[in-house]
Amino acid sequence: KFKVAVIGGGSSYTPELIEGFISKAAELPIGDIYLEDIEPGRHKLEIVGGLVQRMVEKAGLDINIHLTFDRHEAISGADFVISQFRVGGLDARIRDEKIPLRYGVIGQETTGPGGFAKALRTIPVTIDICRDIEQFAPDAWLINFTNPSGIITETVLKHTEVKMLGLCNVPVNMVNYVAEAFGVEMERVYIQFAGLNHLVWGQKIFLDGEDVTEKLLLQLASGQDFNMKNIPDLLWDKDLIESLGMLPCPYHRYYYMSDKMLEEEIKEASHTGTRGQVVKMVEQELFEIYRNPKLNVKPPELEKRGGALYSYAACNLISSIANNKKDIQIINVKNNGAILDLPEDSVIETNCIIDKDGAHPLSVGHVPAKIRGLMQVVKAYEELTVHAGISGDYHSALQALTIHPLVPSSSIAKKLLDDILAENKEFLPQF
Ligand code: NAD
Ligand code: G6P
Ligand code: MN
Repeated sequence: KFKVAVIGGGSSYTPELIEGFISKAAELPIGDIYLEDIEPGRHKLEIVGGLVQRMVEKAGLDINIHLTFDRHEAISGADFVISQFRVGGLDARIRDEKIPLRYGVIGQETTGPGGFAKALRTIPVTIDICRDIEQFAPDAWLINFTNPSGIITETVLKHTEVKMLGLCNVPVNMVNYVAEAFGVEMERVYIQFAGLNHLVWGQKIFLDGEDVTEKLLLQLASGQDFNMKNIPDLLWDKDLIESLGMLPCPYHRYYYMSDKMLEEEIKEASHTGTRGQVVKMVEQELFEIYRNPKLNVKPPELEKRGGALYSYAACNLISSIANNKKDIQIINVKNNGAILDLPEDSVIETNCIIDKDGAHPLSVGHVPAKIRGLMQVVKAYEELTVHAGISGDYHSALQALTIHPLVPSSSIAKKLLDDILAENKEFLPQF
């Protein structure tokens, strides 16, 4: 039986993850789950732990749930380490969202300067965790959800020995959207993905092997849209979709409609607060619900968060590694020449064959100019961010922000960077 460690186990998403393990119990035998956290007071960990315990009991499964503050205990001898932590908590996220808005720049927790700040905070902790894995669980797979997921994965693959696979729920939600649009099961849909985390395009879409890209895009252009819960719901422009000829991911709105998205964010910030402020309230509500000793399943209220199908992605990946399935899933993985327009050692998000040795990307080749430029510039931003996050090099940090497509000038980049460094001081030992 497997040992699983969850770093950031007190997350309100943990019941989602456990639901996935329960549904896969027949093919994925788990003996122990360690929920590890650092939250002072153990508040969230105790509440989530209680619910998780009741879920496992209701399912009649023999899984030992351990709640711990001891990372060594959690990681030691683990087969799978799942990373889902947030350095600095939601208060840091809210700052990430607000700093850019001061300068008329999109404020988002993973895309643009907000994601940059989150990366700088997260990289030192991630490296620390990886040193523990190298020492106490060298054969473990690190399955990462911690954002910005692509940047964190690239950091680990470039700077540690840990076997890491990066995940995001966006690609499976795109597959789910196509399945719903055609009224079929998800298994019948295949999308050829290419891109980066939160910047991934569905280049071609197949239903039972037939190319249905055009049909799907007609529906999308006519307003039959989909989105993640955390992104302002603006409809795509018909001509944009027609000229693109591919399925954009929901996060592309920040790049293709920056002006309208910024207006929307400013409106939201003054009405409901930023997304981080909204999530703070949703989380309080969730923990009140989790506390109920009669509750023994994942409550529907969790759907207010952006993490839909999170456990579907995580548990399918873990099961395919454990069972050497050789099926295809969408993973953040070392490029290795799959996309010829990006460096070999950079991390991309694309279709991979999953077996006991991990994820092997399928060849993409060259991508067309209409997506190549944006992909390359954001990759260069990511590369510089990884370097700045590891070394604390101010110049790399400044160049990262300066070249980011959502930042209009070097002078604004400098103001953003100085605010980010000042307001995150306690989380940035590398600077
Ligand atoms: P959260 O604020 O609830 O944080 C989860 C837990 O992490 C908290 O209980 C916190 O105490 C803990 N934590 C903070 N620092 C830690 C550390 N050094 N070691 C161990 N635990 C630590 O956050 P959340 O909303 O549950 O999100 C967790 C992470 O998952 C975030 O990074 C978020 O961006 C990411 N996320 C990713 C996806 C994806 O598609 N990749 C989807 C949803 C969430
Ligand atoms: C998903 C993304 C995650 C993101 C999350 C935010 O759409 O794929 O990477 O961080 O939702 O959800 P939240 O509810 O925290 O705003
Ligand atoms: Mn994501």
